[in-house]
Amino acid sequence: MENIKAYVQEHKDRFINELIELLKIPSVSADTAYSHDVFETADAVKASLEKAGCDFVEICDTPGYPIVYGEKIIDPALPTVLVYGHYDVQPPDPIELWTSPPFEPVIKKTEIHPEGAIFARGSCDDKGQMYMHVKALEYMVQSNTLPCNVKFMIEGEEEIGSKSLSWFVERNQEKLKNDVILISDTGMISNQQPSITTGLRGLSYVEVEVTGPNRDLHSGLYGGAVANPINVLAKMIASLHDENNHITIPGFYDNVAELSLEERAEMAKAPFNLENYKKALDLNDVYGEKGYVTNERNSIRPTLDVNGIWGGYTGEGAKTVIASKAFAKISMRLVPNQDWEQITELFTKHFTSLAPAGVTVKVKPHHGGQGYVTPIDSIGYKAANMAYTETFGVPAIPVRSGGSIPIVALFEKELKSKTILMGFGLDSDAIHSPNEHFGIFNYLKGIETIPLFYKYFVELSK
Ligand code: BES
Ligand code: MN
Ligand code: MN
Repeated sequence: MENIKAYVQEHKDRFINELIELLKIPSVSADTAYSHDVFETADAVKASLEKAGCDFVEICDTPGYPIVYGEKIIDPALPTVLVYGHYDVQPPDPIELWTSPPFEPVIKKTEIHPEGAIFARGSCDDKGQMYMHVKALEYMVQSNTLPCNVKFMIEGEEEIGSKSLSWFVERNQEKLKNDVILISDTGMISNQQPSITTGLRGLSYVEVEVTGPNRDLHSGLYGGAVANPINVLAKMIASLHDENNHITIPGFYDNVAELSLEERAEMAKAPFNLENYKKALDLNDVYGEKGYVTNERNSIRPTLDVNGIWGGYTGEGAKTVIASKAFAKISMRLVPNQDWEQITELFTKHFTSLAPAGVTVKVKPHHGGQGYVTPIDSIGYKAANMAYTETFGVPAIPVRSGGSIPIVALFEKELKSKTILMGFGLDSDAIHSPNEHFGIFNYLKGIETIPLFYKYFVELSK
C-alpha cells in the first residue's frame, strides 16, 4: 500500500478536476425543477464507476430517482464490502449568501483548510466523500491490490428520506449481500484528530398547519375577536419545551437509552473547546437541555427543532392582516431506543391536543428513520481504526454524531450487516449551508485511507 500516497500525488489534479465536473451538475433532489440534473448525475456516477474498474455497472430505476449499482467480484469466497453514498444534494438556498455560485466549484483557502477547499453544494455532502471511494477503487484496480469483492450502491434521494432506496433494498437482498457496509457521509473531529462515527440519531420530520378563519382578514376589523393562527402556532410551538429545555410531549423520553456516567466520562475525553465552538458561530453562549453538555446535547439526547415557519404577510413594508393559516416544519432527532413512528404518533396526538378552540390543526408526517449505534470491537471498526492510524499517525476516536442517515438502520435490518462510518468532513465545512466546502487535504486523505480499510478488513476477516 506504500504506493497509494504516490498514486494520489501523481493523480491529484485529475482527481480534483473530475470531482469538480460532478459538482457542476445541480442534483437537488428536493426540487423537481432539477429533476433532469439528478438523472444526469446518476449517469455521470455510472460512467465514473465503469472507468474506475467495476466489471458491472447499472442504473436501477425506482419509483423515484435511480440507484447506481456497480460491482467488482474477484472471488466469491472473499469478503464483500458494500459502499453506500448519495449523489443528490441539498437545495443551495439562500443563494445570495454564497461567496461563489453553488454549482460553479472553485478552490479557496480557509483558516482551517490552508491547502484549499472546493466550494460547491455537495462538495462534502456527499459527492466529494462518495467520489473518494470511486478513486480508491481506481487505485486498487490499477495497482492490482483490491483484496476482496466490492459493491457500490449510490442513491439520489438521501436528502429527501431515501424512500426509493428502502424499496430497492427490500427487493434486492441477494444482490446486495455483503460482509460490511462502508459509508463516508459523516465528519471527523479535525484534520489532526480523526474519528469514527459510532452513532447516528434517528429522525421524525413533520409539517403542521394551523387554520383559523376561512380567509385572510383585516387585522383591525377582526383582530382580538378571532384566533390568529400565527399567534396560536407560536404559542403551541413554544410550549413544546419547558424551562429546562426538556421536550414536553408526554411519553417522548420513555424509551431513551440513558448513558452511564462512565460512558459520559468517556465521551468527555474527545477534544472539544467550547470557546472556539462559540466563536465559530458568533454566539455569546450555547443553549440546550439542562443537565447535559454541548457534546451530549447534540449526540446522545433527542431534540425538537422548528426548521421553518411561515404564514401571513412577509413582503416589503407593512400589511395589516390576520392570516387564515400558519405553517411550520418540525424535526425531532431521536436516539436509541426511540422508535420514529411511535414518536411521530406521540407528537401528532400531543400537538393536536394543544389547539385551542377557534383553530383546527393538521399534522402531516414527512419521513423519518431509526437511530443507529455500532460497537467498537467489530472487525470493521478495528480495520477502520488501523487505516486512520496509518494515514493520520494517531488512532481515531469513536464519536456519536447528531446527524441522521436513516437508511443505515434499515441496512442492518434488511441486509443484516454493520455499517462503518468513515467520514472525512469537518463540522466547519458548512454542509446544508451556504458556502459548503470540502478540504483538498480531506479529499485526498480519504482516498489514501480507504484502500487501507479494505486491506485490514480482509486481513482481520481471515
Ligand atoms: N450526510 C448527512 C448526515 C450527517 C452529516 C451525519 C454529518 C453525520 C454527520 C446526510 O446527508 C443528511 O443530511 N441527513 C439528513 C437526514 C435525511 C433523512 C434528510 C439529516 O441529518 O438532516
Ligand atoms: Mn449526506
Ligand atoms: Mn445531507
